[in-house]
Amino acid sequence: MNNDILEILITHEEIINKCDELAKEIENDYKDKDLVVIGLLKGCAPFMMELIQHINLPLTIDFMTVSSYVGSTSGSLVIKKDLDLDVSGKHVLICEDIVDTGRTLTTMVGDLKERGASSVEVVTLLDKPEGRIVPFVPQYIGYVVPNKFVVGYGLDYNEVYRNLPYIGVLKKEIYEK
Ligand code: IMP
Repeated sequence: MNNDILEILITHEEIINKCDELAKEIENDYKDKDLVVIGLLKGCAPFMMELIQHINLPLTIDFMTVSSYVGSTSGSLVIKKDLDLDVSGKHVLICEDIVDTGRTLTTMVGDLKERGASSVEVVTLLDKPEGRIVPFVPQYIGYVVPNKFVVGYGLDYNEVYRNLPYIGVLKKEIYEK
């Protein structure tokens, strides 16, 4: 697996430190608020599990699996796994691995607001602003990355590489085979 990586962009240690930094900001912003952290599977898993351990507040967690129709700028959302919890009246923090075109999160934020959430914000480990098709600015951003295909720490190529403990750029020859 490691041989398929062109370069390591963010080390495991840097990710853990960033989780602590983001958690402090989140703690500050959500004091005395009913916080639900919602992870978008599967990419969110390693990041969300680390991040929540650094947030010293009572909170609940839930997960969704969603995908948006390719070619749709309005961002029609297909929900493959829905929430177990009712988010009405709750302060929702969506946890994502990477924001690229912005379609998924634009749609998700709208969907959760329609369900009656009191507020909906986004924390993302990575932001790829050069990939944006719809304007979307996450509230909490771990790292801004260049417009390259990255894998690891939850991010996959064909469902592989999610278990790499770091974020790396995938060699072009792997996905241009
Ligand atoms: P978007 O912002 O709607 O384009 O969706 C972001 C989703 O696209 C992420 O949750 C990933 O599943 C996927 N994605 C975007 N860029 C990358 C990448 O560089 N590596 C792996 N997955 C990516």
